[in-house]
Amino acid sequence: MNPKVIVANWKMNKSFEEAEDLISEIAEAIDQWTLQTQVVICPPFPYLELGSDHADESQFSCGAQNCSEFDNGAYTGEVSAEMLEGLEVDFCIVGHSERRAYFNETNVQIAKKIDQLLKRTIIPIVCCGEKLEERNNNNHFDIVKSQIEETLFHLDNDMMENVIIAYEPIWAIGTGVNATPAQAQEMHAFIRSLIEKKYGTQIAYNLPILYGGSCNPMNALELFTQNDIDGGLIGGASLKAENFLSIIEAAETVIKEN
Ligand code: PGA
Repeated sequence: MNPKVIVANWKMNKSFEEAEDLISEIAEAIDQWTLQTQVVICPPFPYLELGSDHADESQFSCGAQNCSEFDNGAYTGEVSAEMLEGLEVDFCIVGHSERRAYFNETNVQIAKKIDQLLKRTIIPIVCCGEKLEERNNNNHFDIVKSQIEETLFHLDNDMMENVIIAYEPIWAIGTGVNATPAQAQEMHAFIRSLIEKKYGTQIAYNLPILYGGSCNPMNALELFTQNDIDGGLIGGASLKAENFLSIIEAAETVIKEN
């Protein structure tokens, strides 16, 4: 059983004041616990300094939601991995389905972003997942396989040890309809077997594979109890301290029971 990792993906939400309040509320609560879960909060770019300042004093880590595929230069509006490193950001989500859908991100670009992050010792949280139509056509394994291969399989073993994967079926994101624990477990086991074939048992076993898509305080415990589900990437339910804290508690419960 891998250690649990719980990641908050705030997306494009919260005013600065609300961000301060939410981070403080979460930090104050978890700092009273003997926490075994790795908690990561990924606020929007303008709040990263706020997040990493708090993270210095607290048990959570700060993550970004995206980064540029380029080193630096004339790329108006982009934020480089080097800039994230300067802000002491330790994690970064890449290849989220919203970036793929609304900003036309491709597997090739995502692979470059992963390289940028690893060069700066920032852990990429690499998203994959199929559309409903792809699942209905029974293409979901093929789609996820090509996402994994095209974004990650250029990495050598040393690099692969510093990666987190998040399986997020697109039909489950923000819909209130989560993948059943059995559906999620089936895909997570498949992803781990792909990694095992390419990188060997040890790397595959140690790789955290998170589930994302309508994970909430009601379903978190059952999802996290599955063998190959090592935590969650939480959108909507990370925007309220009470909900996010319940999800962390679910992860803690599973760790303690194992
Ligand atoms: P959700 O989003 O928890 O609101 O479904 C998850 C995500 O998009 O990372």
